[in-house]
Amino acid sequence: MEDRFAPNALMPDPLQSLAFRMLQQSACADQHGDAAPKLSRRAFLGLSALLTSCATQPESVLIGQDPITSRPDTRGPIPRNPTMRLKSNFSLANQDITYRRALVSGNLIAMTFDDGPQPENTPRLLDILRERNIKATFYVIGKCVNAYPDVVRRTVEEGHEIGNHSQTHRLLSSLGDSALHWEMQSCRDAVLNASGYHMRTMRPPYGGLNQRQRELVYQTYGYPTILWSVDPLDWQNRIPSVISSRIVSHTHPGAIVLAHDLHATTVSAMPSTLDQLLYRGYKFVTVSQLLALHSEHAKEQAQGLTANP
Ligand code: NI
Repeated sequence: MEDRFAPNALMPDPLQSLAFRMLQQSACADQHGDAAPKLSRRAFLGLSALLTSCATQPESVLIGQDPITSRPDTRGPIPRNPTMRLKSNFSLANQDITYRRALVSGNLIAMTFDDGPQPENTPRLLDILRERNIKATFYVIGKCVNAYPDVVRRTVEEGHEIGNHSQTHRLLSSLGDSALHWEMQSCRDAVLNASGYHMRTMRPPYGGLNQRQRELVYQTYGYPTILWSVDPLDWQNRIPSVISSRIVSHTHPGAIVLAHDLHATTVSAMPSTLDQLLYRGYKFVTVSQLLALHSEHAKEQAQGLTANP
């Protein structure tokens, strides 16, 4: 499916992916004791067995491996992203409402981090981003926002974008409209209550949202659906150097890079990843800034076509 586009052809087994992610979300729900659906013991054991059966594949999950410190001290000063004074207000009239990448001039890219906030990893990531003057976009889960509102407040205060990643991280394409609205509204309200922030975009968990739902979400909340063009499969492989090399080798101008601040190993991969991208001349913007530039670019092209038929 094009919604699952992964340019490095490292496509996960969908069942393995879903099982692994359900285990993660279950742990989050159990920890916070909220109203999110929980796995039964039987389902948990079944999913664990499924993951174990997949563990002999080449891209197996290496749970418990020590994070590798990814930036040696001998490389000189930390590179910094230029301050990007770009507008975040985009208008998508007569344009697409689904984005995997943007068409822009210049080496602009957006880093996105899903499934937080997480109480240790997200603050560590915020430190890494601040050192480099990089603004990123965080697709947060509402129930985790309710559990860690202070982390969301800090994220907003430091100039990052927040996007809607649903309340409980369910597969939205399997839901009816009322449940879909509840997922969107609950996450929207959680972020608003925590930080006063109004989100402008959404990313469906697992990339799962059909076209009719995308139009419904856009008409109701104004959220375009944001997917990705670079996927390091960081939920599956827990070696920071592998995550880093996958991102660096596949990133392109206008890229929307998918990563997860849920995972300590992903955060450990970021210093090296971000530094290499900066050394290659990439500049980091938020998703809304990227969309605003894309939208202007598309309008200019349309006007050019009208002026020079
Ligand atoms: Ni997610």
